[in-house]
Amino acid sequence: MSVMEKDSSAIKNAPDDSSETVQNTALDDFTPSKLGTKKYWDDAYQRELQIFKDIGDVGEIWFGEESMDRVIRWIETQTLSDDITILDIGTGNGMFLVELAKKGFTNLTGIDYSLASVELAKSVLREEGFADVNIEVMDFLHPPSGFSSFDMCIDKGTFDAISLNPEDGQQGKAQYVASLRQVLRPQGLFVITSCNWTKEQLLQIFSPGFELVKELPTPCFQFGGKTGNSVTALVFKYQA
Ligand SMILES: C[S@@+](CC[C@H](N)C(=O)[O-])C[C@H]1O[C@@H](n2cnc3c(N)ncnc32)[C@H](O)[C@@H]1O
Repeated sequence: MSVMEKDSSAIKNAPDDSSETVQNTALDDFTPSKLGTKKYWDDAYQRELQIFKDIGDVGEIWFGEESMDRVIRWIETQTLSDDITILDIGTGNGMFLVELAKKGFTNLTGIDYSLASVELAKSVLREEGFADVNIEVMDFLHPPSGFSSFDMCIDKGTFDAISLNPEDGQQGKAQYVASLRQVLRPQGLFVITSCNWTKEQLLQIFSPGFELVKELPTPCFQFGGKTGNSVTALVFKYQA
């Protein structure tokens, strides 16, 4: 098992994802983790960038391919123009943007606070023939003032990572919501995939201001008489 695979299962198996806590709506019971630190991601993407250069492997698809496919399937059911502005928050290796570009979306932006991630995402997009996708180094918790008016924001695993920050996970969550209010236009869509928060918790965190539009079906598990989902995928509309 590679380091990334091991750490990926760590995020999936963080305490809030256990069968015992799956219906827990308390919002302050996270165990901090190195997955919430910038150093962790810088190191991880530096390794992945080197591997991509060496053998062309794009690296970890967080929460699996299906986690991208289910969001893309939902997007395809909507009557959205190809040129809507879409922001991928914490883009990692940029693979979500590759999939969106393959579906014909032309106005794509990815941001990540890790320079190595941005270099990897740019390399992957270039290799896939989508060099015109805009990728920037940016801390989502401190976006520049003019960075705004996106029609849609997507997040797969980034809010989870921010929540795990050992120093300020609580403040990070609040700042994330504030940043989302800044970057999304009124009535814009926010699509989040989380392995660490339940639907109920996400509704609480993003309320008021973000209204649930759709819960995307995710695999369900049963354990010890309890039922839950290992991944939560929700679509919100920003009611400014
Ligand atoms: C679990 S990975 C998911 C990456 C990508 N979304 C995917 O699905 O493959 C979390 C990502 O969030 C990024 N990240 C964490 N905190 C961030 C912040 N404050 N601003 C921007 N990116 C951040 C990390 O660098 C990492 O790329």
